Amino acid sequence: MSVFTSSQKDLIILTERFVLRPLRKGDIAILFEKTSRNSELAKYLKWDPPKTLEEAQKLFLPKKKDMIRWGIFWKNQFVGCVSLLNIIRSLGSREINAAEMGYWILPEFCGQGCATEAAKYMIRFGFQVLKLHKIMASCTVENEPSNRVLEKLGFRFVGTRKDHYFKYNRWWDMKLYEMTKNELID
Ligand SMILES: CC(C)(COP(=O)(O)OP(=O)(O)OC[C@H]1O[C@@H](n2cnc3c(N)ncnc32)[C@H](O)[C@@H]1OP(=O)(O)O)[C@@H](O)C(=O)NCCC(=O)NCCS
Repeated sequence: MSVFTSSQKDLIILTERFVLRPLRKGDIAILFEKTSRNSELAKYLKWDPPKTLEEAQKLFLPKKKDMIRWGIFWKNQFVGCVSLLNIIRSLGSREINAAEMGYWILPEFCGQGCATEAAKYMIRFGFQVLKLHKIMASCTVENEPSNRVLEKLGFRFVGTRKDHYFKYNRWWDMKLYEMTKNELID
């Protein structure tokens, strides 16, 4: 069962500069074109650049009901993605209402506040519309721009996970952050 009941239209978010809307099949060609030869973009991400359109579709439009992935669009141009992943409502008798946040921005749009602006509005949507209580985020210690985005958004640093994943022949540490609804800064 889906973790939310809204239609795709109800999930559109308008920010100062961008339209955020759930990704759809028609976006896959541009996502494939922009990511398939971009190993730098995926350096700190869980995925490697897709090699085929089919791979891109599986990667960017997984058949999962516990997540929402929004495309960030600026004047109809694709800029990047923000996502709420692993949305969990309860665990046994415990209410949880938490999700993990993810984001990436195409290199040509980096350094212009895009990730911060898109995530800022998505977080508000998560708390106010999806009624989440907590949003968590994590990033590789060496990923300074991403750590900075989380600081700018007001996330609280929880701690560092040692050797959290293995990629490119080495183990990487990850910094964990979180924000509860009450910690949201206006
Ligand atoms: C991380 C990422 C999303 C940032 O996107 P962005 O739109 O450039 O982010 P913003 O412009 O909102 O903010 C970036 C901040 O990092 C800072 N920054 C950039 N490079 C930096 C560096 N090498 N060291 C320290 N800070 C750095 C910028 O100056 C800016 O901070 P400021 O506003 O205080 O000046 C983007 O670089 C990206 O997509 N990277 C690849 C995918 C990825 O790593 N995703 C996150 C996985 S956790």
